[in-house]
Amino acid sequence: MKTQRVLTGITTSGTPHLGNYVGAIRPTVRASRLAEVESFYFLADYHALIKVGEPARVQRSTLEIAATWLACGLDPERVTFYRQSDIPEIPELTWFLTCVTGKGVLNRAHAYKASVDKNNAANLDPDAGVTAGLFMYPVLMAADILMFNAHQVPVGRDQIQHIEMARDIAASFNHLYGDHFTLPEAAIEDNVATLPGLDGRKMSKSYDNTIPLFVPREQLKKLIMGIVTDSRAPGEPKSTEGSALFQLYQAFASAEETAALAEAYADGMAWGEVKQTLFERLDQEIAPLRAVYDNLIQEPERIEKTLLAGAEKARAVATPFTARLRHAVGLRPLQATAAASLSKAGKSAAPSFKQYREQDGQFYFKLLDAQGALLLQSTGFAAPRDAAQAMAQLQREGPSALETLSDRLSARGDAAAVAAALQFFSKPTA
Ligand code: TRP
Repeated sequence: MKTQRVLTGITTSGTPHLGNYVGAIRPTVRASRLAEVESFYFLADYHALIKVGEPARVQRSTLEIAATWLACGLDPERVTFYRQSDIPEIPELTWFLTCVTGKGVLNRAHAYKASVDKNNAANLDPDAGVTAGLFMYPVLMAADILMFNAHQVPVGRDQIQHIEMARDIAASFNHLYGDHFTLPEAAIEDNVATLPGLDGRKMSKSYDNTIPLFVPREQLKKLIMGIVTDSRAPGEPKSTEGSALFQLYQAFASAEETAALAEAYADGMAWGEVKQTLFERLDQEIAPLRAVYDNLIQEPERIEKTLLAGAEKARAVATPFTARLRHAVGLRPLQATAAASLSKAGKSAAPSFKQYREQDGQFYFKLLDAQGALLLQSTGFAAPRDAAQAMAQLQREGPSALETLSDRLSARGDAAAVAAALQFFSKPTA
């Protein structure tokens, strides 16, 4: 079976709360440990600029979210964990995609439409206060996904439309320029709980009812003590249904523990005691993670290094892929006028570099011709950067780099075909 590529982004506009932890972080970290998936997780800081106009908050949120994911067990060695704005190929791809996206499609995006509807209801100009960034949000998101040819995109229900748009945009591009993009699918996790917030409504930053994941223990206790309950007195039997405290407990406790609490409800446990039980159970899971988080957040330079290493891994895919896409749309060195560029219907099958990781943990690349036949195969590199550098050298210098890199190549196709393929990538030599 082919490995599934899973990719998701987290907008760096807030502080992670319990709802994010239970609904996204915890299940995602677990899924990332499965052997048969190749995961890409990134901090969507370009997206944050659409909503947040405060530079310090964008930076702080990026730090907090990165530290949270790492503290919760995301292993940057196993997955590709990076920051969107470290990948300059993303905005470049956004532009390519913008040029195949119907404006009418974007007019129908929920987030944009909601803003317009609100303006209309208030008798304002329909586009009052609406930035082009908000309008373009789905295209930037499509670029995130398509750049890495993700199969599965785990998101909340509110994001399904965006994944559908990414599919449509990919199909338009493929139709015009050849089969470059995988059509992604939304992966909706139905088994994870939606947590209630302090006021009993869904925990959400927009309701201002969240419990931040990593507040100090004492503050966590205080927040839990403030969760709404009904007014039943101690000793009175209580209903688990609709009880925010019960739902929160259930998201952390085992089935047996949950059943025991249900019994205590029926027996009339006082709300204060329920809250104490909930607090202890939450803290039992969170305390060890919090300790890691508190350490990490003290060392932003360590997180920065981790993210930059992740960007390097991501760019080992993004850089050669973007070179191929540039070629596909016609942004080409002027001397590259081989037959493939003039093929029928403007579809330009181009040679391509692929970088990948083998079971042995090493990084490899290969060069394929327009039909997918193997032209070059590298030996294993310990670091993705070294593989990417060798690839970049071949792209930059063309056939003349073959000599220098000869002991890094384990297989070569027909010399003329290799030379012709490398011509596509190399720049004119002044
Ligand atoms: N829009 C997503 C959200 O707000 C974040 C995001 C940005 C994303 N780019 C993505 C999610 C790509 C999945 C894939 O939740």
